[in-house]
Amino acid sequence: MSTRPITGKITTIERHILDEQSAFPDASGTLSGLLYNIALAGKLIASHTTRAGLADILGSTGQTNVQGEEVQKLDAYAQRIMFQLNDHTGRLAVMGSEEVEDPIPIPDKYPTGKYVLVFDPLDGSSNIDYNVSVGTIFGIYKRVTPSGPGTLEDLLQPGRKLVAAGYIVYGSSTMLVYSTGNGVNGFTLDPSIGEFLLSHPNIRLPDKPKYYSANQGYQSRWSEGVQRFTRWLRGEEGATHSLSLRYIGSMIADVHRTLLAGGIFYYPADTRAPNGKLRLIYEANPMSFIIEQAGGYASTGREPVLDVQPTALHQRTPLFVGNRELVEKAEEFIARYG
Ligand code: AHG
Ligand code: MN
Ligand code: MN
Repeated sequence: MSTRPITGKITTIERHILDEQSAFPDASGTLSGLLYNIALAGKLIASHTTRAGLADILGSTGQTNVQGEEVQKLDAYAQRIMFQLNDHTGRLAVMGSEEVEDPIPIPDKYPTGKYVLVFDPLDGSSNIDYNVSVGTIFGIYKRVTPSGPGTLEDLLQPGRKLVAAGYIVYGSSTMLVYSTGNGVNGFTLDPSIGEFLLSHPNIRLPDKPKYYSANQGYQSRWSEGVQRFTRWLRGEEGATHSLSLRYIGSMIADVHRTLLAGGIFYYPADTRAPNGKLRLIYEANPMSFIIEQAGGYASTGREPVLDVQPTALHQRTPLFVGNRELVEKAEEFIARYG
């Protein structure tokens, strides 16, 4: 083991959350506690994803979720962890999860609080069996109902109202990325000490985009505007440069790469999925909040994602996220050709 003294400044996630809180002298620490708890949930879920093959927890539970998809065992575990770590703290009025059909109430025996937590406990779960990155996405709102148990109304808020959002990606290392509306910071889990350490301060999308990312297997089902836009990204349709392609099929990992390398990720509407596949509340809004906080832009193809007023808990939305000029170009093609 190296005996070299540690010279760089080490910022744990706890310290970072508290530093951010100190900018708000009236803050009660409730949001900080909530964020720290989510980091803890991330560590617990990461400890399972890294041992997935060993612990015989790979594969399906044999059930389907509200989206009609197979529930993987790790989905169920991640759902339980997120719920159990947050149900009793008195910080939340209600929760909403991609894996649960209705609003998730706080059990009667516990107090309710002023925040609302929405999450996708495990995004990209179709990739679990192949050792490909998956992750947990979360968003935090202030409740809009005055007191008592939270309701559907508390969950149906536009992304613009997010107080904080972020994700934990379980990749070659585990990383937590979050924003409270004051820029984006990334933390890497040091497994030897079990702490998230600040590794990516003040993340901004690079000016020069590197990759485009979409499931081109569905290209023939896309609208003319989206097909032409894709050709433009590849240097056709009058483009003066072209981008390289990456598609993992785990939105969390595809957007994470877009955040760090620059480019665009999109999951458009298609003839079989008129609103696309991704869920507005659990996936699109938190990731869009992060991308916009890092200087990028997120659109449905016709309007900013964060301005969409949700009308149903599990509603889907087409999504285009990444460097602003690329996302605006997608809007241009869609406005012109549909
Ligand atoms: P989830 O695992 O939470 O159900 O989400 C999967 C989503 C998203 O992560 C990814 O971008 C998309 O499904 C991939 O879909 P395709 O296989 O249709 O490309
Ligand atoms: Mn998902
Ligand atoms: Mn999921």
